[in-house]
Amino acid sequence: MTDYILAIDQGTTSSRAILYTKAMEVVATAQEEFQQHFPRNGWVEHDPEDLWQTVLSTCRAVLAKSNVPASAILTIGITNQRETSVIWDKKTGEPVYNAIVWQDRRSSQLCQTLKAEGLEPRFQAKTGLLLDPYFSGTKINWVLNTVKNARERAEAGDLCFGTVDSFLLWRFSKGRMHATDATNASRTLVFNIHTQTWDKELLDLLQIPVAMMPRVLNSADNFGVADAQWLGAEIPISSMIGDQQSALVGQACLEPGMLKSTYGTGCFAIVNTGNKAITSQHRLLTTVAYRVANQTTYAIEGSIFMAGAIIQWLRDGVGILKSSADSEVMSRSIRHDQSEIMVPAFTGLGAPYWDPDARAAIFGMTRDTGAAQLVAAAIRSVAFQTEDLLRAMAQDAIDITSLRVDGGMVENRWFLQVLADLTGIPVVKSHTAETTAKGAALLAAYQMGLFSSLEEMSQTWKVAENYQPSLIEDVRAGYYDRWLDAVSRVKATPE
Ligand code: G3P
Repeated sequence: MTDYILAIDQGTTSSRAILYTKAMEVVATAQEEFQQHFPRNGWVEHDPEDLWQTVLSTCRAVLAKSNVPASAILTIGITNQRETSVIWDKKTGEPVYNAIVWQDRRSSQLCQTLKAEGLEPRFQAKTGLLLDPYFSGTKINWVLNTVKNARERAEAGDLCFGTVDSFLLWRFSKGRMHATDATNASRTLVFNIHTQTWDKELLDLLQIPVAMMPRVLNSADNFGVADAQWLGAEIPISSMIGDQQSALVGQACLEPGMLKSTYGTGCFAIVNTGNKAITSQHRLLTTVAYRVANQTTYAIEGSIFMAGAIIQWLRDGVGILKSSADSEVMSRSIRHDQSEIMVPAFTGLGAPYWDPDARAAIFGMTRDTGAAQLVAAAIRSVAFQTEDLLRAMAQDAIDITSLRVDGGMVENRWFLQVLADLTGIPVVKSHTAETTAKGAALLAAYQMGLFSSLEEMSQTWKVAENYQPSLIEDVRAGYYDRWLDAVSRVKATPE
């Protein structure tokens, strides 16, 4: 009997594997962190072997923990950190360079050049994205221009490009499948989200040979099989989806107007816009939410680069927190009118500012400022950044009535109350923290016929906690004005 679904969540700081029953109950989980490489200011890399090995070992760990044989696994669903780019040799599977991570800013100059040539509207119209080093396209260009012989090898058809899902699929299938899904493709800056094809003009502008690009399938599809060598039995892979889109599915935001916000390393707020690809007039992204049965559902996304990573920095870099969990205890007595305000532009500013060269700052410190105030200012900065995104969505005429939240930071209840207060919108936490993995598991199950519709999938979602806003509007607006003032002081690129 094949009774289980294995979800793989390959994230920015760790790989996770979660084993589900067919009724979507979690049987076992395993997680492994891996090394982050920061070779230069603004550069962030992962060793692709670390990504693969931690995925393999966490999958093996959940099977061992739960005593479930690989032959009992019906299907695998893969979700992943998006945009992070790997280029590898078609014959040997060897990466030609480290994975260049979504946070990496090295292609900032190329983005500036393309913008100066007036090309941003062209990219936005076709891909829904803006010219920022965040996306894969300019990272691929950097590798092809920098690694010895890479361009020649790519042009000869000897190299493959993939986001992390695609690289893992290649490894799992022992090179039989070079594919990705439409959500991951929609983050590369060379995928036309309207025609759902790689775009020749954009590939040419970024000098990327089309031969190295993967086939683009639905998010629930037949992605081939994981070879028996890896987990002990041949297992079909039936879904691949970018992690933020997967959380949208896991949070059952399957109707237009439904929004989820995930507080992991960064924060990604995504609102479902149905079968319409709305172009944001306020520097948000248009992206593929999911593609199921060849029907594309679109979304508007606001991406901010630092959320949980600020807490990690306070813990590991500055050393004023023993554990992330301490952040709640330390900061909950610090009132909204604290003088300190932090703008966490450590890797530039994402939506809606898109300023790769801005850098972080803390304003308003006094002799009373201590660790608790810094932690509280850090947590408030995440809520203010969310408010930036919600305002931009409102200006794009998208009406948001509640915020479904997930990710590591939502374990901090004080943060959730601060979030409701500073955004003025009720915050809803779902019964499972694993919404990202759950999205991929649901889609894989759907592909295998365990659900007959998306609507049926959404019935697996339940509310756990609700937080109501408690500030009067004028007071809230006053705090937000202080935030905007602080942001204007760290910006490097005038609008
Ligand atoms: O766009 C980047 C995003 O997909 C990374 O997500 O959860 O690995 O921080 P996460």
